[in-house]
Amino acid sequence: MTLTLLAGSSITAGYGDLVAIKDVSVDLGEGNLLGVVGPNGAGKSTLLRALAGVIPVRAGTVSWEGRDINALSADKRARLGISMVQEGRRLFPSLSVQENLMLGAYHASPAERQERRDQVVEMFPPLGPIMDRSASVLSGGEQQMVAVGRAWMSKPRCLLIDEPSLGLAPIIVDEIYKALPVLQSAGVSIVLVEQEVGRVLRIADRIVVLHEGTVMHDGPAEDFRDRPDALREAYLGIAPGGKG
Ligand SMILES: Nc1ncnc2c1ncn2[C@@H]1O[C@H](COP(=O)(O)OP(=O)(O)OP(=O)(O)O)[C@@H](O)[C@H]1O
Ligand SMILES: [Mg+2]
Repeated sequence: MTLTLLAGSSITAGYGDLVAIKDVSVDLGEGNLLGVVGPNGAGKSTLLRALAGVIPVRAGTVSWEGRDINALSADKRARLGISMVQEGRRLFPSLSVQENLMLGAYHASPAERQERRDQVVEMFPPLGPIMDRSASVLSGGEQQMVAVGRAWMSKPRCLLIDEPSLGLAPIIVDEIYKALPVLQSAGVSIVLVEQEVGRVLRIADRIVVLHEGTVMHDGPAEDFRDRPDALREAYLGIAPGGKG
């Protein structure tokens, strides 16, 4: 029996008059990878923001190891070990790769920072030679590696990763995806938001399908691992051979 690390129970969240997710429940088991898929506008990023505390929930409860954390700010949740890799990477363009990474570990000792930085290079070898390069000139793939690496620097227990494949060539996406099981085997639990159903099914333990702000499906990824088309068709309305 896997213990629940992070959960949302019947959560509702939105922006102004808009209800973007309604009555959504998700459960991330300790050491698991939970895939969240769904079309554009389904509420995937909103769900991650609500879990991370970037936006408040209007109803329902976000809990961490069984404790209600609704009242905790994003910063306090980060200190518990919840780290978010936002859609679009969001690096500091005027800083170098190295400086961007170090920002993820500002509370760690110099020795620990160095150790984690070396682990990032192990995970993403292309970053090794470009540590001093300005983040403003990085390719999309390099930026995504830095974004994931920066999250790793904060010694997270849980990573919330939003569409890491967005706009990247498949070969680069492969590289990013190779790192996720490595993170998982280091004890990090992961919520991975994606539109590419096939990729998520290959590495996820559980899969949640969001559609128009509600959960359409929640079950073991294994059920659809060998037939991603069935999941796409049944829940996403995407014809076989379509995206993902
Ligand atoms: N900052 C915001 N202010 C107002 N509305 C927003 C904001 N962010 C998202 N929305 C709206 O909330 C709904 C859900 O958006 P969300 O970004 O969560 O979807 P998504 O599943 O992540 O989509 P995508 O796959 O395109 O990233 C959409 O209707 C969107 O227009
Ligand atoms: Mg999104």
